[in-house]
Amino acid sequence: MADRVASHYSEDLKLADAIVDKLRSAGKDLNKLTTADLAAVDEFHIRGRKATLELGEKMNLNGRSHILDIGSGLGGPARTLAEAYGCRVTGIDLTQAFCDAATAMSDWVGLGSRVSFTQGDATNLPFENQTFDAAMTIHVAMNIAAKDKMYLEARRVLKPGGVFAVYDVLQGEGGGVLYPVPWARDPSISHVARPDEMKSLLTNAGFKLLDVQDSTEESQRFFEKMTAQMAMTGTSPVIWHLFLGDDFPAMAHNQVRNVTERRIRTVTYICVA
Ligand SMILES: C[S@@+](CC[C@H](N)C(=O)[O-])C[C@H]1O[C@@H](n2cnc3c(N)ncnc32)[C@H](O)[C@@H]1O
Repeated sequence: MADRVASHYSEDLKLADAIVDKLRSAGKDLNKLTTADLAAVDEFHIRGRKATLELGEKMNLNGRSHILDIGSGLGGPARTLAEAYGCRVTGIDLTQAFCDAATAMSDWVGLGSRVSFTQGDATNLPFENQTFDAAMTIHVAMNIAAKDKMYLEARRVLKPGGVFAVYDVLQGEGGGVLYPVPWARDPSISHVARPDEMKSLLTNAGFKLLDVQDSTEESQRFFEKMTAQMAMTGTSPVIWHLFLGDDFPAMAHNQVRNVTERRIRTVTYICVA
């Protein structure tokens, strides 16, 4: 299961090279790259960098904070918050190629000393109890069947009072998810939770739920804009097809229908340990 999830995301072990080529052809000065230059590829979730900054606002961060990003992908959210708050971020992700690319990209933008990425599984975190001041997870749990274990592990590694911010794709009321989607080409590695399950999953793990925000309407506009741009120019505002490959246009089209027909919802949960 874990191997199938990792190979869904990337079979290309030279991801950083492919990203450099893409940035060069987009006319970016590789000696002066900023986190904003990388956002089209490294914020791999619906509503991009804006959504990451919204989570940061809820996490009580400062320059002394050490935060954990569970399912850190290419490291965009980690770099965005390290830059915005001056904090340290440790990312963990199942996909080794993503961890390697995330490490390289952090060095490109001068954040290598404040962010680090380790390959590992969200349901079995390789960290001591009460290590982190705050934790986040963005669009990861829909690949994880054992969400109870994932949230118990997040609770275990957080210091008492630490904020856990969860921004995820959930099953909507409008019918089954249409595949392929960016997190799965078919249902075998897709485990979207229903909104009514989330509250008990989080409270059973020992969290106190502080806030719930549904961003589905804004997510619909995000995908409508993306597919309109793809239709007009043949390019997309995100360059996730670098690792998702030729299926990406079909994934984007399905996501417009999934979100418009409310087959999926995007929801943020802010909890405290
Ligand atoms: C859609 S991407 C989101 C990446 C990142 N959070 C972001 O928003 O840019 C989902 C990520 O979850 C990771 N993932 C899936 N299952 C995981 C698991 N059991 N443990 C750790 N990471 C996992 C994948 O490797 C992938 O990088």
